[in-house]
Amino acid sequence: MERIDLLVTDIGLLVTPPSGIVPRYGAEMSVIHEIEHAAIAIRGERIALFGTESDVRSQLTGIEIGETVSAKGKLVAPGFVDPHTHLVHGGSRENELSLKRSGVPYLEILAQGGGILSTVRATRAASEQQLLEKARGSLNIMLLNGVTTIEAKSGYGLSLEDELKQLRVAKQLNSRHPVDLVSTFMGGHAVPTEYTGRADEYVELLVSRMLPEVASQGLAKFCDVFCEAGVFSIPQSRRILQEGKRYGLIPKIHADEIVSLGGAELAGEIGAISAEHLLAASDQGLSSLAAGGVVPVLLPGTSFNLGLKQHARAREMIDTFRLPVALATDYNPGSCPTESIQLIMMLASLNLRMTPEEILTACTINAAAAIGLASEIGSIELGKQADITILDAPSLAYLPYHFGINHTFGVIKKGRVAVWNGQLASGE
Ligand code: NIG
Ligand code: FE
Repeated sequence: MERIDLLVTDIGLLVTPPSGIVPRYGAEMSVIHEIEHAAIAIRGERIALFGTESDVRSQLTGIEIGETVSAKGKLVAPGFVDPHTHLVHGGSRENELSLKRSGVPYLEILAQGGGILSTVRATRAASEQQLLEKARGSLNIMLLNGVTTIEAKSGYGLSLEDELKQLRVAKQLNSRHPVDLVSTFMGGHAVPTEYTGRADEYVELLVSRMLPEVASQGLAKFCDVFCEAGVFSIPQSRRILQEGKRYGLIPKIHADEIVSLGGAELAGEIGAISAEHLLAASDQGLSSLAAGGVVPVLLPGTSFNLGLKQHARAREMIDTFRLPVALATDYNPGSCPTESIQLIMMLASLNLRMTPEEILTACTINAAAAIGLASEIGSIELGKQADITILDAPSLAYLPYHFGINHTFGVIKKGRVAVWNGQLASGE
């Protein structure tokens, strides 16, 4: 072995899904490898060696080591992956809080021109620089919480220029910020006000003008649609995702969140990489996800914040349908204004009845699989990207147990220290 650039020593407990480049299905989600008194050796951006500290040290005898950092006996896990965010947007919607709390449903606020459409107005009015500064602030919070890769959707522009503006911001952040971003085009997030009552015409604009431009500028990897009663129907969603595929964009879908429309069935039929929310998904829908190899991305922060009684059926998804469940924040200014993946872990424990092991799998390798990156990130293993989070916690179960705080002490992203002592290391 040649030189090691960074050696992380004195890891109290290392926890990771087993090696692998595919998601973990059903009962496999409970399997977490644990190594006490561990160390990780990194060369460049990749993990070169890991194991017990004594093993690692003996294998490194005579090898030059650039920098050594002590994890101070703490818990070390793969960097968390947040596979569903609406990171880039203008404004905020605290003005809707009292409406929501007085019981006005989410879809009704949208139908009245508020909700997503209010954020569309704020996003259109914002300059690219303003959007970038706001998104950078949220991305910093995510990094400080141990997140090393996220997905970011457009969908608050809903015109060609404004969608491109959002996607350009995500691209810029990806090149300038330690956190990696993968982009999703979500022109199908809502029907913009100027097309009220003419949803099919808007879908036409989306497929004939927006998709080709987004694809030719290489601004997105995925295409997503809000398939929901009163938003985009099953046929409209199918058209958007199928056309997206023609342009090389991999389908994702906001499916069966509030009404059981058959979005999960469509996800399986069309070969989506992931299907999101799924609170109201039918048994047939869940079978369709299993048959189609679709990753269900559950968003317990959203059901919590919308005050819904219903939650996604995570236990059945894992135990009966053997699905590879992933978790995400759904960070957005309406249904889930939080960047905290650690709060999501707590809610997954409380409301989805997932175990700490399943939660770790869902926030690492399965989340990576939901954005097509399971071969690069999501586990601590030889050759994978050196994305690591160091947590001030004695055990894995401590994370969803001690809630409402940030446990992250340090983050290593692509072999570089990005957070230390709870502070950002760089000028970001
Ligand atoms: O995933 N459901 C649709 N889209 C977002 C909410 C966006 C918003 O309210 O601004 C979601 O929950
Ligand atoms: Fe969403």
